[in-house]
Amino acid sequence: MGARSFALSAASVFTTPARPQDFLRLVNPLSSARQLRGVVTSVTPECAGSVTIAFRPGHGWQAHEAGQYARIGVEIDGVRQWRSYSLSAPAGQDPAITVTSVGRVSRHLVEHTKVGDIVFLAPPQGDFLLPTGPRPLLMLTAGSGITPVMSMIRTLLPRRADADVVLIHSSRTPEDTLFRSELAMLDADHDGFHVVHRHTGTDGRIDFTTPTDLEQLCPDWRSRKTYVCGPAELLDDATLMWRQHHVEDALSVERFETALLTDASGTGGRVVFEKSDKEADADGSSTTLLEIGEEAGVLMPHGCRMGICRSCLVPLRAGQVKDLRTGEIRSDEGDLIQTCISAPAGPVHLDV
Ligand SMILES: Cc1cc2nc3c(=O)[nH]c(=O)nc-3n(C[C@H](O)[C@H](O)[C@H](O)COP(=O)(O)OP(=O)(O)OC[C@H]3O[C@@H](n4cnc5c(N)ncnc54)[C@H](O)[C@@H]3O)c2cc1C
Ligand code: FES
Repeated sequence: MGARSFALSAASVFTTPARPQDFLRLVNPLSSARQLRGVVTSVTPECAGSVTIAFRPGHGWQAHEAGQYARIGVEIDGVRQWRSYSLSAPAGQDPAITVTSVGRVSRHLVEHTKVGDIVFLAPPQGDFLLPTGPRPLLMLTAGSGITPVMSMIRTLLPRRADADVVLIHSSRTPEDTLFRSELAMLDADHDGFHVVHRHTGTDGRIDFTTPTDLEQLCPDWRSRKTYVCGPAELLDDATLMWRQHHVEDALSVERFETALLTDASGTGGRVVFEKSDKEADADGSSTTLLEIGEEAGVLMPHGCRMGICRSCLVPLRAGQVKDLRTGEIRSDEGDLIQTCISAPAGPVHLDV
């Protein structure tokens, strides 16, 4: 037994029924035996509706790599909600996220986060990462999709004098552009960094049906390792274009949201959450097993809620479920079901 665990076990004699960890937590709010946490150290307004929230993580956090994301948990009306956010700070520094208000959790983070608040954290993850060796890079981003790329740029430029990076960033107007002044400074200070702004309010979107637009913006795009992050349409169009030009191996894509089928719906049925001893009747709509469980009061594991992080996997005990992205039906007992993108296709028993 180590000195710390011996001290904890000795202390427990005097502190029962509260556990020693509970007392440690009173002294250090970042200390928790079970859940990684961070304390907010700054909240910096970016453009309208967006803020950067920096935090000091507690013990157990592993440093992030440029381009990775983490799941962040916040309590809203007494319920802990988790969402994924790219870490916009450079690798090697304390993490920061840059959040744009679009829905319930992001609005809460943007409007209510204060210095000193405690957020819940999951370890950094993701393979949207810089190449291991030097290569000319093209970053193609739109809106809040610039956040993982910002971490890459902030990491790479100070470390490599020979970096060769073109960033093409789309935003509606100059005022809507995240990190605008920092990007201008980096462009002025680094010969190998060139930023091109595309303001869709006046210039329209980049046309990916032919290479003409891209060739004007970055003539050697085919020979660059390319990172793309932004709305689904941009990602789909770029993927198609890189494929048509046989350079898809050079493309890395980071998705913030998932495309569901246009007629995404299950067929409904009774859903039994076995471990929780709860049941609910589902209609034949696009309501997911995650939402049905939450509505029934089941503590459902989840993260991004959009089929990306796989934090919501639950074993299927019996019945059929439909994947709302592909229409695939899963019915094998023991199959791990992504509840955030699956709906019942008849009666279902889940092991949760
Ligand atoms: C790997 C990953 C990294 C992410 N990084 C960031 C980030 O750096 N900054 C950030 O602001 N968000 C990021 N997101 C999105 C974030 O996880 C949430 O989905 C977003 O904040 C909306 O959550 P919400 O509860 O506010 O809205 P909800 O009520 O859950 O959803 C509202 C709607 O907004 C859509 N939506 C999700 N993200 C966006 C977006 N960026 N722009 C427009 N609509 C969107 C959803 O599809 C949904 O239809 C990331 C997501 C993933 C999976
Ligand atoms: S919650 Fe992220 S994949 Fe389901």
